[in-house]
Amino acid sequence: MTPRTVDHVIRALATSDGAGVKLLRSLGSRQDARLDPFLMLDEFGTENPDDYIAGFPSHPHRGFETVTYMLDGHMEHRDHLGHVGNLGPGGVQWMTAGRGVIHSEMPKQDKGRMRGFQLWINLPAAEKMKPAHYRDIPAAEIPVVALAQGGSVKVIAGTAQIDGKATAGAINSGASRLSTDPLYLDVQLAAGKRFEQPITAGYNALAYVYEGSATTGDAATALPTSSAALFGTEGERVSFTAGKDGARLLLLAGKPIREPMVQYGPFVMNTRAEIEQAMLDYQAGKLVAA
Ligand code: FE2
Repeated sequence: MTPRTVDHVIRALATSDGAGVKLLRSLGSRQDARLDPFLMLDEFGTENPDDYIAGFPSHPHRGFETVTYMLDGHMEHRDHLGHVGNLGPGGVQWMTAGRGVIHSEMPKQDKGRMRGFQLWINLPAAEKMKPAHYRDIPAAEIPVVALAQGGSVKVIAGTAQIDGKATAGAINSGASRLSTDPLYLDVQLAAGKRFEQPITAGYNALAYVYEGSATTGDAATALPTSSAALFGTEGERVSFTAGKDGARLLLLAGKPIREPMVQYGPFVMNTRAEIEQAMLDYQAGKLVAA
């Protein structure tokens, strides 16, 4: 099997969002730094409460999915329908905003480490206006596979092929498949260890190194800490070898939607008119109406 090669590497940029939460944005840091169906990938990680305490107060979304994956700390999620969820270490919230959600994501702690990721995944036109939907997946429900040569892989979404064995993830496996068919793995490797994963033909794939470093592919493209590799579509698998301090990385793959896309802040639609409608609906209190 031929390994995929890296089209380009994006270094994550320091930015802030919500009410001043400091984060590192790789995917989505520029208009062209996207990989259909993935729109944005933010990493938040700090010991300093000043960097996260203001959280993400009430805000809307329409037209896509947000996936929050916590490594450390607690966030409380509340929405317009009165849903309350507590995201804890190792847990995932998979939220399909669909036609609209208005929610807040606030730290449930006033000290200590807060660390994790938020990924935005686009929805096809046919699903942008469907009702909002949530899944909260505690850490205990996410399969962790030990690698034969050392290290481990958490299978958050999709089905991983690890050491010749298929492992179904917590989301997008079995009967309930999302139309973008996402694969979302959290991979931990010791120094010098290798990991590879087949990628479905025609799907886009990217990897984000959040600790240590790695090289990827036959060209041994260097992936330093806080960098995202966007892979080309030629080749059947991706491979990684951890650097001298090991590596922790997210591997994402999904089926591209291949539709026109217009984003304005928290709204991601197909046309400008639909964005204007989303803003009108939000202002009129109709974003989330059935
Ligand atoms: Fe949000």
